[in-house]
Amino acid sequence: MSVQKQSEKANVLIIGSGGREHAIAWKLKQSRKVGRIFCAPGNGGMSLIGKCVNIKADKIRALADFAHRNKITLTIVGPEQPLALGIVDEFQRRKLKIFGPDRKGAQIESSKVFCKQFFQKYHIPTAPFKVFDIVAEAIGFCKTLEYPAVIKADGLAAGKGVIIVKSFDEATDAIKSIMLKKTFGKAGKRIIVESFLKGQEVSMMVLTDGKSIIPFLSSQDHKQAYEGDTGPNTGGMGAYCPTDLIDDKMMEEIKEHILLPTVAGLRQEKINYKGVLYAGLMLTESGPKVLEYNCRFGDPETQAILPLLQTDLFDLFMKTVNKRLGANEKLSWRNGSSACVVMASKGYPGKYSTGVRINGMNEKGNQNALVLHSGTRRDGDKWFTTGGRVLGVVGIDKDLSGALTRAYGLIKKIRFDGAMFRRDIGFRVLKDK
Ligand code: AMP
Ligand code: GLY
Repeated sequence: MSVQKQSEKANVLIIGSGGREHAIAWKLKQSRKVGRIFCAPGNGGMSLIGKCVNIKADKIRALADFAHRNKITLTIVGPEQPLALGIVDEFQRRKLKIFGPDRKGAQIESSKVFCKQFFQKYHIPTAPFKVFDIVAEAIGFCKTLEYPAVIKADGLAAGKGVIIVKSFDEATDAIKSIMLKKTFGKAGKRIIVESFLKGQEVSMMVLTDGKSIIPFLSSQDHKQAYEGDTGPNTGGMGAYCPTDLIDDKMMEEIKEHILLPTVAGLRQEKINYKGVLYAGLMLTESGPKVLEYNCRFGDPETQAILPLLQTDLFDLFMKTVNKRLGANEKLSWRNGSSACVVMASKGYPGKYSTGVRINGMNEKGNQNALVLHSGTRRDGDKWFTTGGRVLGVVGIDKDLSGALTRAYGLIKKIRFDGAMFRRDIGFRVLKDK
C-alpha cells in the first residue's frame, strides 16, 4: 500500500459549526488523501480534528481569501446561508474548488416559491399550492380551504417558516404574523398556502454533479422539541438511518419521478448544480411527494448517515466537484443501523443559557458510539455549551434498537445543567414492531 506524503495530501476547509460539519470533519479525517483540516468557524469537537479559524460562515470574501492563502484543495459548505449568499460563485470566480451549489442552485432551498414553481413546471409530485404577496388575497383563499393546511414563508427562516394551521382563524393569524408583523423578516414578503399531506416523513439525500445522482441511505429525523413529535419545531432533535420505510421499489419510484426529473429540470434551467440535494419527502397514500428541497446535508441526519459510510468521502466530494460521478458509482455501507440523539440546552428552541460546563466528555468514542458536537467550546480539557443544540450522541449496531441503546448508554455518561434530549428517537418505526 503506498503511503501518501503529508505534503501531497489535500488541505480541506469545512464551513460551519454544527454537528453536521463535525460529522463531515470526522469522516474526512479517515481519508488517507486528506491532510490538514480547517474549520471556519468550527466548534469544540472540530477543534480536536482540525484547526478552527475564526471566520464566520457568511463572510464569503474572507473565506475565499483564507482558502487562497492556505492552498485549500477543497472547501465544503455545511449550512445553507453561505450557499444562498453565493459563496460558490465567489470561490469559482477565483478558481477555488468548492463543494455545493451556486447561488442559483441554492434557490431550491432559499426560495420556497422558486422550489414549488420548479416542481409544477417539471411535474414533480408535491402538495397543491398557491403563492400570495397580498394579505387580503391570501386570507380570501383560505376561506375556501380544507383544514389542516400549511402556510409557508418564501425565504430562509432557520427551519421555522412553516406553520400548520387547523382552522381559518389560525390561517388568518399565521398570514398576518408572517406578512404584516414580519415574524420572519423579509423571508415572509411572499407566502405559500398549501394542502396538508399525511404520512411518514423521510429524508433522502443524494450527491449530484448535475448529471448523475448517487443516493445516500435514507433517514428520518425528529424536528419537534418534545416526545411524540410534539412542541415547537427545532433544527432537529435526533435522526436514525437507514429507514425501512423506503424499499427498493419505492426508491426506484423516487428516483424516476422525483430525483432524476429534478436534476434534469435544474439542467434545463441552466443551473450547474454540484453538491448535495436533500429531498424532504412525505410518503403519502398516493405515493411519495416532495415537501421541500434543501441544497446541503441535513442536520442531524448527516450525523447518523456518515458513520455508516465506508466509501472515501473526500473522493466522493472531488468527483462531484469535478463532474465525474459515474451513474454506476456505488457507495459502500457498513451493515446495521445508526441513531443520533441530540442533547440540547434547557429552553431550546426558545431562550437558553450558554457557557454551562459539560462533564463526562472524556469518554473516548469508538466505532459503535461517538459524540458529535454542535454548540460546544473547549478550554483545555474543560468543555462548555455555546448553543441550543449542544451534542449529537450516535450509536451504531446491527439494528435500530441496538443503535439507540448504545446512544442512550453514552448519553448517561454526559452531564450538563438543564440538558434536554428526547427519549423516543425512532419511535415512529419502532412502535410498529
Ligand atoms: P419544510 O421547511 O417545508 O420542510 O417544512 C417543515 C416541516 O413542516 C416539514 O418537515 C413537515 O413536517 C411540515 N410540512 C411542510 N409542508 C407540509 C405539508 N404540505 N403537509 C404536512 N406537513 C408539512
Ligand atoms: N434535519 C432537517 C434539516 O437539516 O433541514
